Amino acid sequence: MRRKSFTLFSHQEQDTINAGSKLGALLFTSDVIALCGELGSGKTYFTKGVAIGLGLADPSIVTSPSFVLLVTYMTRNPLRHYDLYRVDGQEIISLGFFDFKDSSISIIEWADKIDKRILGDHLEVKFAIISGQTRAITFKAYGQRYETLIDQLKRDLS
Ligand SMILES: Nc1ncnc2c1ncn2[C@@H]1O[C@H](COP(=O)(O)OP(=O)(O)OP(=O)(O)O)[C@@H](O)[C@H]1O
Ligand SMILES: [Mg+2]
Repeated sequence: MRRKSFTLFSHQEQDTINAGSKLGALLFTSDVIALCGELGSGKTYFTKGVAIGLGLADPSIVTSPSFVLLVTYMTRNPLRHYDLYRVDGQEIISLGFFDFKDSSISIIEWADKIDKRILGDHLEVKFAIISGQTRAITFKAYGQRYETLIDQLKRDLS
């Protein structure tokens, strides 16, 4: 099955933040954003942008703090930021993913560690370091809601 996807290139941190912010403005409760990609590829900068797009007053609080697996930001809708780097992907269940899912927006760093069947419908955002400050950011839709979201995002980024 060919899934709808879209790639953009970021040439500096701010481009990544801006892309996240455009996506954040389009999100609603129960949306799931799965961030994949190696260390230092921009997952946290992108999350900062998503929080900005959702109206977070102080985006400097969005970081990758050591040993914190879940942080909730009180944005337009609660934004739950998971970071699974140090744990098994299955841990997302014990962190309450299913309990919180329908009342918040979920954004997950190191989502590559989770079996996609656990996540259900979601938007995958894959980060690749091309060179220096250049990142390829590829959005891929798993489910109809996310196909619509990709169309809206393409429109807003152009
Ligand atoms: N175009 C870019 N977009 C985002 N970050 C960039 C870019 N160019 C350079 N950087 C640098 O790359 C790093 C990205 O850091 P970030 O914390 O967002 O990565 P991450 O994918 O969350 O890493 P980790 O897996 O360790 O959590 C930062 O040091 C940032 O300054
Ligand atoms: Mg990070």
